[in-house]
Amino acid sequence: MQQQIEAAMAITQSFESVVRGRRSVRGFLPRPVPRAILEQVVALAACAPSNCNTQPWKVYIVSGQVRDRLARDMTGAVQTGKMQPDLPYDGRYAGAYRERQHDAARQLYSAMNIARDDEGGRNAAFMRNFVFFDAPHVAFFYLPAGFGLREAADLGMCAQTFMLALTAKGIASCPQTALSFSAEQVRDAVGASAGEILLFGISFGYEDPTVAANGARTGRAPREASFTFVG
Ligand SMILES: Cc1cc2nc3c(=O)[nH]c(=O)nc-3n(C[C@H](O)[C@H](O)[C@H](O)COP(=O)(O)O)c2cc1C
Repeated sequence: MQQQIEAAMAITQSFESVVRGRRSVRGFLPRPVPRAILEQVVALAACAPSNCNTQPWKVYIVSGQVRDRLARDMTGAVQTGKMQPDLPYDGRYAGAYRERQHDAARQLYSAMNIARDDEGGRNAAFMRNFVFFDAPHVAFFYLPAGFGLREAADLGMCAQTFMLALTAKGIASCPQTALSFSAEQVRDAVGASAGEILLFGISFGYEDPTVAANGARTGRAPREASFTFVG
């Protein structure tokens, strides 16, 4: 374990390589991340900015037997249609956003060799969400009671800092709205209070490079579509 900690400390990557190195990984090795590294990652995630420094994030990091039980419970809940997210989500987008959504799905399914009309294959790929793509750890990101859209942005900043900190230490991750679909199962597992709103989970661990899904790469819209310099 000490060796892994030292190896993680020794990884000094530039900011740009960390930002570009982060991508959604959907296949992990069972090897757990040492607790000392997890502590470093959460200390970095807590550096995220927030409205009035309210730090409106409640993050539960689940591992071991609780993780295994939750994977079983969530899979069962989804298979029996018991999906009740704290916030509604229909996954429907329009126009350019829809095109980007479809493009990302195309990249993923082609890496996995799943044909467009292969419903069984797509469903099996979807169900992998609920076993955390075999990751040994999953972090659940909750908005505390009484907060809204503005503070949800703070939670997003914390989550991105969390993932970049993982990347800098050679640890892969996948943010997942799918992990908010069975909110009751997650609440039971982590002991979150009734008012806390589950927005997403992040599965993380060491990447398994042999998993086909990990060959997928997404693109980005041209700069002009999203960023405008004024003046
Ligand atoms: C908030 C959020 C929720 C997401 N939910 C899921 C999900 O439920 N399942 C999944 O496989 N990927 C999910 N993703 C990953 C996106 O598909 C991915 O970030 C996007 O396609 C860009 O690819 P990249 O992360 O590899 O750069 C989510 C990403 C974010 C930021």
